[in-house]
Amino acid sequence: MAAGFYISRVLAIVGALVSVGALASIIALSVLYAQEKTKNHDPSPTAHTTTTPSPGPLEPWQRYRLPDTLAPVFYNITLWPRLEPDQQGLFIFTGNSTVQFVCVKDTDLILIHANKLNFTLFQGHKAQVLALGGAPPAPAVRDSWVEVGTEYLVVQLEGILEAGRSYLLHTEFVGELADDLGGFYRSKYKENGQEKILATTQMQPTNARKAFPCFDEPAMKAVFHLTLIHPFETVALSNAINYDPVNVTIKRQTLKETRFQPTEKMSTYLLAFVVCEFAYIRSTPDSPVLIRIWARKQAIEEGQGKYALEKTGPILNYFQNYYSSPYPLKKSDQIALPDFSAGAMENWGLITYRETALLYDPAFSSNADKEFVATVISHELAHMWFGNLVTMRWWNDLWLNEGFATYVSYLGADSAEPTWNIKDLLVVNEVHEVMGVDALSTSHPLSSKEDDIQDPNQIGRLFDSITYSKGAAILRMLSDCITEGVFTEGLRTYLDTFKYNSTVYTDLWKQLQVAVDKASPGLGLPTSVEGIMNPWVLQMGFPVITVDTRTGHISQQHFLLDPEAEVDKPSPFNYEWIVPISWMKTGIIKNPLWLTTKEATNTNMTIGSADWLLVNLKTSGFYRVNYDQENWERLLAKLDNNHQEIPEINRAQLISDAFNLARAKLVNTTLALRTTRFLVRERAYTPWLTASRNLNYYFLMFDRSPVYGPMQAYMVKQVEPLFNHFKDITANWTKIPEKHTDQYNQVMAIRLACQNGLKACEDLTYNWFNAWMKNSSNNPISPNLRSTVYCSGIATGGQREWDFAWNMYKNASVASEAEKLLSAMACSRQPWILIRYLEYCLDPKRIRKQDASTVINYVAENALGQPLAWDFVRANWDYLFNDYGKGSISFYSVLHGVTRRFATEFEFKELLRFQEELGSNAMGLDFQQVLEQTRANIKWVSSHKDQILSWFTEEASKPKAQLYSH
Ligand SMILES: *[C@@H]1O[C@H](CO)[C@@H](O)[C@H](O)[C@H]1NC(C)=O
Ligand SMILES: *[C@@H]1O[C@H](CO)[C@@H](O)[C@H](O)[C@H]1NC(C)=O
Ligand SMILES: *[C@@H]1O[C@H](CO)[C@@H](O)[C@H](O)[C@H]1NC(C)=O
Ligand SMILES: *[C@@H]1O[C@H](CO)[C@@H](O)[C@H](O)[C@H]1NC(C)=O
Ligand SMILES: [Zn+2]
Repeated sequence: MAAGFYISRVLAIVGALVSVGALASIIALSVLYAQEKTKNHDPSPTAHTTTTPSPGPLEPWQRYRLPDTLAPVFYNITLWPRLEPDQQGLFIFTGNSTVQFVCVKDTDLILIHANKLNFTLFQGHKAQVLALGGAPPAPAVRDSWVEVGTEYLVVQLEGILEAGRSYLLHTEFVGELADDLGGFYRSKYKENGQEKILATTQMQPTNARKAFPCFDEPAMKAVFHLTLIHPFETVALSNAINYDPVNVTIKRQTLKETRFQPTEKMSTYLLAFVVCEFAYIRSTPDSPVLIRIWARKQAIEEGQGKYALEKTGPILNYFQNYYSSPYPLKKSDQIALPDFSAGAMENWGLITYRETALLYDPAFSSNADKEFVATVISHELAHMWFGNLVTMRWWNDLWLNEGFATYVSYLGADSAEPTWNIKDLLVVNEVHEVMGVDALSTSHPLSSKEDDIQDPNQIGRLFDSITYSKGAAILRMLSDCITEGVFTEGLRTYLDTFKYNSTVYTDLWKQLQVAVDKASPGLGLPTSVEGIMNPWVLQMGFPVITVDTRTGHISQQHFLLDPEAEVDKPSPFNYEWIVPISWMKTGIIKNPLWLTTKEATNTNMTIGSADWLLVNLKTSGFYRVNYDQENWERLLAKLDNNHQEIPEINRAQLISDAFNLARAKLVNTTLALRTTRFLVRERAYTPWLTASRNLNYYFLMFDRSPVYGPMQAYMVKQVEPLFNHFKDITANWTKIPEKHTDQYNQVMAIRLACQNGLKACEDLTYNWFNAWMKNSSNNPISPNLRSTVYCSGIATGGQREWDFAWNMYKNASVASEAEKLLSAMACSRQPWILIRYLEYCLDPKRIRKQDASTVINYVAENALGQPLAWDFVRANWDYLFNDYGKGSISFYSVLHGVTRRFATEFEFKELLRFQEELGSNAMGLDFQQVLEQTRANIKWVSSHKDQILSWFTEEASKPKAQLYSH
């Protein structure tokens, strides 16, 4: 699965959304359950409803994992989704399924996953069991029931199923086609003023069992024969190619029946089926793999699928070469869905996307939107082999699957858009972001023990940024250390050895080891691949490497943002790592080294008086670097007098390291601030992005204090040359910069300049916005710049500008355009307008429920809006969180959003008071984390404020000329 929208658009939010979906459907299905319960003959009611394990030995159906007695071979499934509500107003689907399985160990019990399905009875039982090959026949069913807590259909038999024999289990069932984004669910959209319903699926991780009874664990691979019955005007899609649909008449309705070719042997979580009225565009008939892009008819007519179609073929080719393995299927369908919880899902042969992850419209979409499409497609296509052809045996190894796809998504996107330099963006998007999380004492190791991951909640929680981004970072580090050629050779044999099968992560290490051993010349690794990787995989966190260039002494230490935090989790490696040290001395790249102990001395790393030393080139190692003060001074001097001698990514790295080391009290805060001085001459994107992200905390802490003025003055001074640079190279803002990252940096320049009050910037954006207001059907603002220009236009404008934006929002037909306006409307500087905007959040006709918490957070990001949002949330808490669509609002994200600036004792007390008021309602809201954050802010502000104020004041008062000299 890929990427939701969450802090940065590349981190995964899937877990949270999955559980939200689950909540909603539990409510919706209570009707079905009520019927189910009264019908059930129920021999042991307590056992059947247990969700918490009781003390003592558990019955097999009280355990979340399947026993090892049965193994599925194939399924024959027929499903009929109803796209209109029944008399009770419920959308349902009916279905039947026959699964053939082999008995591996004698047993009198069949456990098969089923969730929220209502079974038809056969002679009083929920399933029929047959023996393959007739005699002796299968034992009769003694009892059958649904085990709600562990999501099983339980079938107890009178006799024994014999090891080695094959059997069939047949069921017929009804399920709800809910709008809960999980399992077989429904989605809706408007077309020509008409509401359209479609049926689609999201099985990962544990929702296939909501569509039909199945052995719903990734290692339980089988072949699936699917048939869909669907309304005449719709088309049915699934993993495999379909046979020609036939007409069927059921209860005097004419329907279509579409049968699909058998799938490859595959996991249940990769199944997908869709019934819809979409249109498609396809690859040319001579392309070896049929590629189709499906979407709403209007989106296809407008050409929004073209970019995806253009890039899918080349990316697929890239991966065939990268893996040395042909694409395993005959076709690749990709479909954009109006309602979708994650960013996208790698169902084998039918990849599902949210619209913004697949569709691209040059008239509305920015280059960031385009990059998102390219990387998400690349991520999903990478899974077609890694994840789908070869699958993790159990969810505890999810990090390898997702970390890998995240890493190579940058390689695939780079092949499709070679001018973008996108591999460098991996560092700022994944590595820097996840280092922030992994440097907390509350982090966790990449790898989990199989036994610790049992129930669907535990599985859902694995979809986090550690899994995706840290996974990507350490695989990139490994590929770099053993070279890409050796890495891909190991991948090739791994995929070949385990195709259509499943693995544990050490299987990959073993194949890579074989490739390493074959490599010539040797790679000089200090130990085995597994030995190198274990400390990175099995313990949380990462080291800070300290280099003393006077002595050549290097040491490592577990890096924690909070130096006083206590790490109560023991580690088998004592928080030491095997660290690849790449480095350069005064611009010359030196032979890489390994740090395999806590400390070592390497006299090559001492430097002369004219030298400087830089460690962790290209940021390919997952660690931070600290130096002795002298070397820091030399690096700062190099940045100040000729920054381009230091590679771009390392310029970003120096900023990122310095700011984080300062937070950990390992260097002075002023040293961190000094790494931003060279920006006055910097034109590249990643150093600016890194500085802006790190300074954001300073803005949050100080934008309501006397530090704000000097800080803004400094920022204006730094960014004005960048602003003028873009004005020049775009011929007075009439052209789009050629380079992808320049396009980003142009947005950065305008955003920082306008935010900090550069007059020329405010005039520019105000005029653009006004030109648009004069003729709303002629928007002169380049899509790249819209987010930031809308924000600035609304901030400098008043009611007229805001109301115009509101109208444009209401009429926006492109999702990404609506999103841009939604965030820009929170930029207003008029308190009453912000309050009105917040109040719109209570009215679903104005702001959709799914967007309410986002809007509250947008308002809270605005320094003026923050106290308003805090008051609003407190005043409307009951309504928002109890009456207003439970599950539509992310409690924690709102609480966190409105309190991010809290840094005074007064605010701390207000928080405590609010927690008290909520009483038991505050439970599970993680108030503790917010209180701790506020505490930390108070401490940080009180010990740094004076120093920071005087630094900014002094810098701001220096004449511009001095900054321009050199
Ligand atoms: C199915 O029905 C439609 C219209 O009802 C008809 O045009 C079509 O020929 C039929 N197809 C088959 C295979 O009978
Ligand atoms: C799957 O892999 C296991 C080893 O992990 C092996 O024993 C088994 O034979 C493989 N199955 C197939 C069908 O290749
Ligand atoms: C940009 O505008 C300025 C005056 O506003 C003008 O002097 C200059 O020639 C323009 N540059 C270009 C490339 O159009
Ligand atoms: C507004 O812009 C549209 C599209 O460019 C144009 O056709 C129309 O004439 C403009 N209207 C006015 C009043 O300028
Ligand atoms: Zn993924």
